[in-house]
Amino acid sequence: MTDTTKQDHVLIFDTTLRDGEQSPGATMTHSEKLEIAVLLDEMGVDIIEAGFPIASEGDFAAVSEIARNAKTSVICGLARAQIGDIDRCWEAVKHAKRPRIHTFIGTSPLHRAIPNLDMDQMAERIEQTVTHARNLCDNVQWSPMDATRTEEDYLCRVVEIAIKCGASTINIPDTVGYTAPRESAALISMLLERVPGADTITFATHCHNDLGMATANSLAAVEAGARQIECTINGLGERAGNTALEEVVMALKVRNDIMPFHTGIDATKIMNISRRVAAVSGFPVQFNKAIVGKNAFAHESGIHQDGMLKNAETFEIMRPEDVGLTETNIVMGKHSGRAALRSKLENLGFELGDNQLKDVFVRFKELADRKKEIYDDDLIALMRTATDPENDRIQLVSLRVVCGTDGPQQADLVLNIDGAEKSTTQTGDGPVDASFNAIKALVAHSARLQLYQVHAVTEGTDAQATVSVRMEEDGRIVTGQSADTDTVVASARAYIHALNRLLVRREKAGKDTREISYKDVG
Ligand code: KIV
Ligand code: ZN
Repeated sequence: MTDTTKQDHVLIFDTTLRDGEQSPGATMTHSEKLEIAVLLDEMGVDIIEAGFPIASEGDFAAVSEIARNAKTSVICGLARAQIGDIDRCWEAVKHAKRPRIHTFIGTSPLHRAIPNLDMDQMAERIEQTVTHARNLCDNVQWSPMDATRTEEDYLCRVVEIAIKCGASTINIPDTVGYTAPRESAALISMLLERVPGADTITFATHCHNDLGMATANSLAAVEAGARQIECTINGLGERAGNTALEEVVMALKVRNDIMPFHTGIDATKIMNISRRVAAVSGFPVQFNKAIVGKNAFAHESGIHQDGMLKNAETFEIMRPEDVGLTETNIVMGKHSGRAALRSKLENLGFELGDNQLKDVFVRFKELADRKKEIYDDDLIALMRTATDPENDRIQLVSLRVVCGTDGPQQADLVLNIDGAEKSTTQTGDGPVDASFNAIKALVAHSARLQLYQVHAVTEGTDAQATVSVRMEEDGRIVTGQSADTDTVVASARAYIHALNRLLVRREKAGKDTREISYKDVG
């Protein structure tokens, strides 16, 4: 294990499962959260913020199980500055070998106004809650939310209280992505200089990306003395997201000459976890995203390609393999066996039980019949589809579409809904629209389609398409994803996936799930 006591060591605190999951539509299922937590632990993340245990039964269960399973990482849960929140958080994280409670309160004038506390009352609340957390757990982190818009004197006062009450990590959040690098550094320097006891604790930086400066602000804070960076995979998070883990880790590696700090992250695991988070959150990575975007290592222009052939360093400041991006990696074809598939999937980070392997193998063979070359990305997309729960209430039985220049396009659809087959034929403006109309005809609902996105997984006309669908109903946002060489089938499956998640969300919210009315038009 890395020696984390060294002054040049920066702790990586990943909050993909808490702040990341909070971004509208990025909800992950229980098993998806467990899977991401295992990958974070394996890649060397120092602290995993696994969720917000008071927020829901689901969050509580996920944090508890992640805590039980974690091998090396500290497992942290979030709690507001309330005794009930902190107790619930402790109940979830206490199963970890190395638990942490993270409690926070908004300290800026705008945030103080919400609970209607004056400065003294808030200071008292901080004293009570940090002390309470510290009595439960010997590893407590405290955050003054909206720190970058909090009066400096007041910030010093409350940070000092939290330190006195036993917090060993003080996180300085730029909650609204408002700060700039020079200011971010100055804030940490100011706290280190003015707050008694500041040299005994670890300062953390937590930056949002509203002005596109999150990574720069985090690194500036480190240069000023912060030793924990809070970040998420792919920069997932509220609004414009958070500092991206892959960006800070690679920036510290590649520019170690001017930023002499290191992390304990195994960078070769970055690409795999980035793809998994994109798949489970339904937030595809933008093509030109630093480090993990599809084009991050692609060289289009003639001059660049020529330079690359002569010496890769002419246009690359890091090698694709440094972040786990292997070459074209054609894996298998239709003659590949089950053992080879299991071993390849294990390399990609998927541990499969025998039953799951059986299911994936059938789907792999179907895909191999339709597609000559199967790449890592195809298998990842296949896994995403294959792990959909068998007990989904709505299942696609068959879909046939008629499309072409002479409309209207038509979809013949058969669904299995709660064990009974229903069928319909509908038309639409294009085959996807016709298919969605058919689904709506069988599963009437008021959810609004917010986003429909299609990406080709690999190159070529036989490439699989991954489709993401985001829907909103009564403020609840759900996403669905699927992949298939047939874009229309992938679209229908993604829509059905989202509807199934909507049913689960309604159940959790205690609503009568039967309110979905099934019209038998067949
Ligand atoms: O952005 C923020 O302020 C947060 C806190 C809960 C730390 O996420
Ligand atoms: Zn945040």
